[in-house]
Amino acid sequence: MAALQQAGHLTVAGASKRFGAALVLDDLSLAVAKGEFVSLLGPSGCGKTTLLRCIAGLLRPDAGHISVAGRDITTLPAHRRNVGVVFQNYALFPHLTVAENIAFGLRAQGVSKSESAPRVAEALALVRMTEHAGKPVTALSGGQQQRVAVARALVVRPSLLLLDEPFSALDRKLRETMQVELKHLLREVGITAIFVTHDQEEALVVSDRIAVMNAGRIEQLADPATLYGRPASLYVLDFVGQSTRLAGQVTEAAGGMLAVQTALGPVRAPGQFAPGSRVVVAVRPEAVVLGEAAENRIAARVREVSFLGSRTQLHLDLPEEGEDRGVVELPRLPEGIGPGSAVTLAFREADTMVFPAP
Ligand SMILES: Nc1ncnc2c1ncn2[C@@H]1O[C@H](COP(=O)(O)OP(=O)(O)OP(=O)(O)O)[C@@H](O)[C@H]1O
Ligand SMILES: [Mg+2]
Repeated sequence: MAALQQAGHLTVAGASKRFGAALVLDDLSLAVAKGEFVSLLGPSGCGKTTLLRCIAGLLRPDAGHISVAGRDITTLPAHRRNVGVVFQNYALFPHLTVAENIAFGLRAQGVSKSESAPRVAEALALVRMTEHAGKPVTALSGGQQQRVAVARALVVRPSLLLLDEPFSALDRKLRETMQVELKHLLREVGITAIFVTHDQEEALVVSDRIAVMNAGRIEQLADPATLYGRPASLYVLDFVGQSTRLAGQVTEAAGGMLAVQTALGPVRAPGQFAPGSRVVVAVRPEAVVLGEAAENRIAARVREVSFLGSRTQLHLDLPEEGEDRGVVELPRLPEGIGPGSAVTLAFREADTMVFPAP
């Protein structure tokens, strides 16, 4: 555990938490480097908020240790942890102005008025809210309230910033703007941050690394490109992005290459499985072309076509039951392709992933 503690600015080592019979955090470990922006991504109920609350000191884990900057804070009360929290509903004080909301934490820390004023001004400038300083927070838009909440959390100079689904109340357009803004802001400040979301696209946009959670455990912790390109399991493959996947059986294994028989024919892919193994082969939508221009080729039928503006998706007609599902993305739809069309799909062996069958 000592090694783990040195590895991260924030270290969670073997944290478990039960609510009644439910094991909500299951021996979970996580190390986050100084200045890193890590997202906790996972479906509803997988324990994201519970982990955040343990780190903030609002909950005590049943087992395990949490440390920040090498100091064990597991038993430290929340107000002594120097951790900033931005909640989903912002939790701003409606009867206070923007500046008063931001100053609140400083006053609670006993910072004098003369020292507080320049720090509030700095925080306001950081989130570009200087001109709104005197307004009541009730007069602000959702995005502006969000920025006040971030400024209020940052003004106390926390060693760690925790954000629990901070954008879920915003409309899509504003959410996308805020994601990029927040990422930029936090990089400027250089603060270590943990960001909870169940939106995989949001996690890909904002994070240095993403921890994909499954039932109280971290299934994979990696940078966005690795998570998408080299998912560690079918669960991660399905949770982040889309794919065409076909169940099959390994017929040959030699020199790190596999031949897999699927319902749509043979496919070759790099991997280490014994002949006879039941597997699922998968390929990302943009790694597929129509025609013959790659080593793996399968024949399929188009069920539906979705025009998405910058690209078009073909949904393949595969049996509904079982593991098979198919979606392909093309920059544009070729002439004459539509629902019912017979197509040949080609994809590179190197782009083909193999997982153990569930
Ligand atoms: N105080 C509590 N008492 C009892 N059960 C709780 C408590 N807090 C959370 N739980 C349960 O623990 C599980 C995980 O909850 P948690 O809030 O951590 O999930 P989450 O990943 O944040 O989900 P969401 O995406 O819906 O916010 C859920 O089944 C929830 O009902
Ligand atoms: Mg939650």
